[in-house]
Amino acid sequence: MDTTCINRITITRPDDWHLHLRDGAAMKDVVAHSAERFGRALVMPNLKPPVVSVGQAWSYRERILAALPDDPRFDPYMALYLTDTTPVDEIRRAAMGPHILSFKLYPAGATTNSDAGVTNINKMHDRFEAMERWEVPLCVHGEVTDPSVDIFDRELVFIERVLVPLRKEHPALKIVLEHVTTKDGVNFVIDEERHRHPTAATITAHNLLLNRNAIFQGGVRPHHYCLPVLKREAHRQALLWAATHGGPRFFLGTDSAPHAKSAKEAACGCAGCFTAHAGIELYAEAFAQVNALDKLEAFASFHGADFYGLSRNTGTMTLVRKPWLVPPSHEYGESEVVVPLRAGEYISWSLESRMHP
Ligand code: NCD
Ligand code: ZN
Repeated sequence: MDTTCINRITITRPDDWHLHLRDGAAMKDVVAHSAERFGRALVMPNLKPPVVSVGQAWSYRERILAALPDDPRFDPYMALYLTDTTPVDEIRRAAMGPHILSFKLYPAGATTNSDAGVTNINKMHDRFEAMERWEVPLCVHGEVTDPSVDIFDRELVFIERVLVPLRKEHPALKIVLEHVTTKDGVNFVIDEERHRHPTAATITAHNLLLNRNAIFQGGVRPHHYCLPVLKREAHRQALLWAATHGGPRFFLGTDSAPHAKSAKEAACGCAGCFTAHAGIELYAEAFAQVNALDKLEAFASFHGADFYGLSRNTGTMTLVRKPWLVPPSHEYGESEVVVPLRAGEYISWSLESRMHP
């Protein structure tokens, strides 16, 4: 189907299945961006201290709801942080608990606030077994932390060393390879689908739009540094195929990960790209670039809900092909700002609700 002359599309309200909202005053500033665009989100638990129990997740969810703007149609779902000491019984409680959707596996040291993550996956089998039994999905940050492994190979090596053996041991475990960045990750998910294993992956907008050159374009660009790190062009092409071929195992997860400007523009800058300000528009742009706008709705609004066994959203949203200028920064807590992706540049798709006649 030729979608190149489509200038306006209406889709079922989308969901964001991988989102960092932080906490406190900063959260109040960022959550409005997501609530304006998405029906639901899976909120990541890598706070300081991390969200490790159902009780903590519920109180975090209450704080999110309290921080929402007046028209709160936004329904946050929570991921719990898996640690070496997660009790098996917490998995049962998570399975029973409304709005608790999954556990998140951070290999210790892999990314922002992952110090409390899992140190030895081989000691976690009783927990994975409980997840299989109680049908609680495992969301995975898929990178090894072995410092001898090249940073661009950490996803591939994680698949070989961790995911393939994990799947053998736990054939019924629902796994989401979060923010997949490589063709190897895409191939893994496709292979899993072929074997009827319950595996899916989220894909970020920045990984569909940028390759690793973006980190070094005319100088070091800290706002393009995230983890897993952006990869070479061949991987971006594989991700574009994965997102737009219509297959149900790939769905939207922005991984919008705000950090204060001062923490990004530093001698040792934090990992994470803030994309919630254009959480759906950036995907529309990526899909339009490869003439696949007709595939956006399934990727953004259906596949994730279907995989998690939730009903699809009922409302709609309309996007128009109209460029808008991204501000240089957004408020971020009491005395900070966050620099959004594309700051000071144009994005070619807009929310119709933002258009003024
Ligand atoms: C995330 C963050 O800042 O919380 N950073 C990132 O680069 N994506 C953590 C994560 O999802 O890895
Ligand atoms: Zn993330």
